[in-house]
Amino acid sequence: MSTQSRRGGRPGKPYRRPRKDPVRILAFEALRAVDERDAYANLVLPPLLRKAREKDPAQGGLDARDAALATELVYGTLRRQGTYDAIIAECVDRPLREVDPPVLDVLSLGAHQLLGTRIPQHAAVSATVELARVVLGDGRAKFVNAVLRRITADDLDGWLERVAPPYDEDPEEHLALWHAHPRWVVSALWDALGGGREEITALLAADNERPEVTLVARPGRATTEELTGTGADAVPGRWSPYAVRMTEGGEPGALDAVREGRAGVQDEGSQLVALALADAPLEGADSRWLDMCAGPGGKAALLGALAARRGAALLAAEKQPHRARLVARALEGNPGPWSVVSADGTRPVWRPGSFDRVLVDVPCTGLGALRRRPEARWRRRPEDLAGFAPLQRGLLREAVAAARAGGVVAYVTCSPHLAETRAVVDDVLRGLEREPQGPAAELVDARPLLPGVPGLGDGPDVQLWPHLHGTDAMYLALLRRTA
Ligand SMILES: C[S@@+](CC[C@H](N)C(=O)[O-])C[C@H]1O[C@@H](n2cnc3c(N)ncnc32)[C@H](O)[C@@H]1O
Repeated sequence: MSTQSRRGGRPGKPYRRPRKDPVRILAFEALRAVDERDAYANLVLPPLLRKAREKDPAQGGLDARDAALATELVYGTLRRQGTYDAIIAECVDRPLREVDPPVLDVLSLGAHQLLGTRIPQHAAVSATVELARVVLGDGRAKFVNAVLRRITADDLDGWLERVAPPYDEDPEEHLALWHAHPRWVVSALWDALGGGREEITALLAADNERPEVTLVARPGRATTEELTGTGADAVPGRWSPYAVRMTEGGEPGALDAVREGRAGVQDEGSQLVALALADAPLEGADSRWLDMCAGPGGKAALLGALAARRGAALLAAEKQPHRARLVARALEGNPGPWSVVSADGTRPVWRPGSFDRVLVDVPCTGLGALRRRPEARWRRRPEDLAGFAPLQRGLLREAVAAARAGGVVAYVTCSPHLAETRAVVDDVLRGLEREPQGPAAELVDARPLLPGVPGLGDGPDVQLWPHLHGTDAMYLALLRRTA
C-alpha cells in the first residue's frame, strides 16, 4: 500500500481501496435503472436480487437479510425522493439540476439511511461514502461526504420543520413535504377524499406503507382454506370471501395453487369490484360476459371463474397483443368457456348490445396504487390526465353500447382522481342523453354489492381507500343500460 498521495507525491494518508458493499451497490444499480431507463422498481429489483442471492455471500452474494435491506433502501429512497431532494437542496451550494444524476442517487440513498432508517449515523455516512468511491470515484466521494455531514445536522422531523411551510400557511405544501407526495397529487387525493387534515394525513401515510401481499383463491379452482393452510402468516381477507392476506410478505410463487394458476396475487379492491359486477342483480339472460380492458388478466381470471359457476362465457379483450397473451395465460384452466381477443375496445369487434355483464377497467394514472410503485408518484404529471381522458370516455361509451338492454357495466379505475372517476361517468351519461339513437344508461347504487364494507360514502359509486379499507384506491361506478 502506498503512503504517498497519488497526486502530488507528498506524504499523505495511505491510499485504501474502497470497500465494496454488495447491498448498497445493488441498491444504487436499481436506482440508476429507475432513473435512467424509467424502469419500475418492482420489476427491476426482483431479478437483481435473484442474481445476487444465487451468488455465494463470500463472493459478494446476498443473504435474505441483505436482500431485505436492499429492498428497503431502494423502496424507501424512491418513495421519499421529493422530500430528500428538498433537504439535499439545502445542503448543496448549487441548484439540484446541476448535480449529476448518479451523484444525486448516491446522496438520496445516503439521506434515506440517515433520515429514514435506524442505521447509525456514522455507519450510514461511511457506507455511502464508500459506495461513492466505488461508483463515482474519490473526487466526487468527497463532495458526497461533505453533503452527508451537513444532513447529519438534524433528524427528519428537524429537517421538515426547516424545509416545509407550516400547515396553517400552506397545508398542501406542508403535507406534500411531510408525507413525500407531489403537491398536485396531495391536492387531487384531498379533493376526492374530502374531510380535513386527519383524513388526508391518514391516506398519505397509508400510501407510504408497503402493502401486504393478497391472494385470490379463484372460485371453483382453489379454496381460501387451501391457502391459509400454508402458514400462520396467511389469514383470510378482510372483505372478499376469496381473499387471503400474507401478513409477513411471503413468497406466493412457492404455493402450488399460485403456480398452477388456481390462485393468484390480487389486491382485495380488485376482487371487490369484479365481485360487485358479478353479483349485480340482472333480469333475464346471464350468459355472456365481457372484460374490455383485460390485460394482464387478474380480474378476467376471477370473472372467468365466477362466470363458469353460472354457466356464462367470458370474452376478454385487450388492445396490446403481448398483454392479450398474458390474459390467455391467466385464464388457462378456467373451468368454463372463455376466449381472448386482441382488440381496441373503442372499435369493437363484437356485436353491440350482446353482453349481460361488462367490465371496463380503463387505463389510468394509477394514483390509487402508489403503495405498490414507489417511484410512480414522482413520475406522473398532471398533464397525463388529459392524455387518458378521451380514451376513458370512449371506452366507457363503448362498454355501455356492448351491454344488452338491462345489462350492467362496471366502470373501474385504479385512481381516485375525480377527473378519471366521476367526471368520466358524468360526461358519458350526459353525452348519451344527447344521442337520440345511442344507448341509454343510468347509475346503479354499487354500495350494497360490497356487503360488509364500511365507509362507502353517499354512493351511488364507490371509492375504496388504502387507509380505510387496506386496499388500493379502486373506484367503481355501476351502470345499467336502459335502452
Ligand atoms: C388498468 S389495465 C387493466 C387491468 C386488468 N383489468 C387486470 O385486472 O389485470 C388497462 C388495460 O387496458 C389496455 N388498453 C388500453 N387501451 C385499450 C383499448 N383501446 N382497448 C382495449 N384495451 C386497452 C391496456 O393495455 C391495459 O392492459
